[in-house]
Amino acid sequence: MNSRGISKDFTGARVDALAVAVFKNDDAKKGALKALDTLTDGQVSSVLGSGEFKGESGESLLLRFKADKGKAGRVLLVGAGEASKYKTSDVSAVAGAAARKVRDLNLKTLALDPRSKGDVVETASAAMLGVVTSQFELDKYKTKDKIDKSISGFTIFIDGAKPAELKNGLEKGQILGDSMNFTRDLANEPPNILTPTEMANRTKKMAREAGLTCEILSEAQMKKLGMNSLLSVSLGSEQPAQLIFLKYTPKKSTAKKGDLLALVGKGVMFDTGGISLKPGEGMDAMKYDMSGGATVVGAMRAIAMLKPSVPVIGVVGCVENMPDGKASRPSDVVTAMNGKTVEILNTDAEGRLVLADAVAYAEKRGASKIIDLATLTGAVIIALGNRNTGIMGNDQSLVDSIISTGKEVGEGFWQLPLEGYESEVKSDIADVKNIGTKRRAGTIAGGLFIQEFIDKAKWAHLDIAGTAWSDSPKAHQSKGPTGVAIRTLVKLVEKSQ
Ligand code: BES
Ligand code: MN
Ligand code: ZN
Repeated sequence: MNSRGISKDFTGARVDALAVAVFKNDDAKKGALKALDTLTDGQVSSVLGSGEFKGESGESLLLRFKADKGKAGRVLLVGAGEASKYKTSDVSAVAGAAARKVRDLNLKTLALDPRSKGDVVETASAAMLGVVTSQFELDKYKTKDKIDKSISGFTIFIDGAKPAELKNGLEKGQILGDSMNFTRDLANEPPNILTPTEMANRTKKMAREAGLTCEILSEAQMKKLGMNSLLSVSLGSEQPAQLIFLKYTPKKSTAKKGDLLALVGKGVMFDTGGISLKPGEGMDAMKYDMSGGATVVGAMRAIAMLKPSVPVIGVVGCVENMPDGKASRPSDVVTAMNGKTVEILNTDAEGRLVLADAVAYAEKRGASKIIDLATLTGAVIIALGNRNTGIMGNDQSLVDSIISTGKEVGEGFWQLPLEGYESEVKSDIADVKNIGTKRRAGTIAGGLFIQEFIDKAKWAHLDIAGTAWSDSPKAHQSKGPTGVAIRTLVKLVEKSQ
């Protein structure tokens, strides 16, 4: 997509539509709206005055210029909610809503005045990210009735901004938005197409293009390393498990010696539950059970292209959880890579079995800090719905930094405790069992299980089961995979430089 930044003459931009953020109880006779009100012969003040347009987020309204006025010909009012609560990160949803609307009208180019008072680079980046992610659709496999239009040009207007800052921000937003869409495309892929092997192949290709080191471990290699916990999950599948290892190395590192962040993802390409088979209804949703892994791959793509001065590694355990004569049984015992024995009491609690060996492998490759991401429990959806990702960990300062970074970029994380619940995963016959007691504290039990496989690293676990998929479309985003947590992870890495 073409993009440019301008710092003066917004209403003179040669585009199909001039979009502007409008707040609740906004005044059409002042500042940014005044010029547009004049160009539209008072339509802006008219629709604001009549209450036809209220400035709620998600709302938008198209107005026409008077025939001989301006170059754009159209004004798009985009709701931005309360002015006092408007943050730089909210610019993404405003820009996204504008870009979707413009696309739906079959128009091609858009200029936006986001009316954000925040940092110029961050504002331009948030806007571009919003535009890029707004164009993503789920209809890849449709041969008819496909939404194959998209906008081709985006102009951001920030009064008095430096051209270099605008350019910088737009480039960054494009990288982040493309990386989110890369993750979303993987999460949306059907599991017959995106097998563990195909996931590994697509990651290899991305790594080559983005300049990341990529190693794929085969089942034989995993077996040698003793990853029997991970391998147990795919015993019932015709598809061999694959372990993806990615590494970003900066040209000149500013990291303290020994400091290495690992992003670790659950890549269950499809989760039938295995022998503890899931009910048929809704099982199709389990194609997104590799969202944690796809998030790691997308975040690593963005990191490779943004080139921070600290190294980061990524580990994704890719498996398919199927019932079969060779599959694990409830009551099986396996020995994980770190030597701990695991009693598998429910083959549907498979994500933690994969992560057990994946986090241990990350530490083996030098990680001093680990953030794992997984669609781990249905219980987190009951607890937090789809607004907040569940977060747990063994290091409060790491957990706090993720929560506060999330606030900066507009992503919600809500902490659940681990302390005091440790007995939930103690097994009668082995070191640990892979489920808690009955249905209580299900998300915490998942976190506690993974913690057993962390040795010395600082660690945080993100349960994205409720946030990685959106069941309804939004003004700024289609329904389906969201690409959640990528913005937070990338920002966290940038802040650690
Ligand atoms: N992938 C599921 C978790 C999940 C469920 C994600 C619903 C999104 C929507 C996970 O592998 C799973 O099956 N978890 C079980 C754990 C239980 C057996 C302890 C669950 O949540 O029911
Ligand atoms: Mn499961
Ligand atoms: Zn699962």
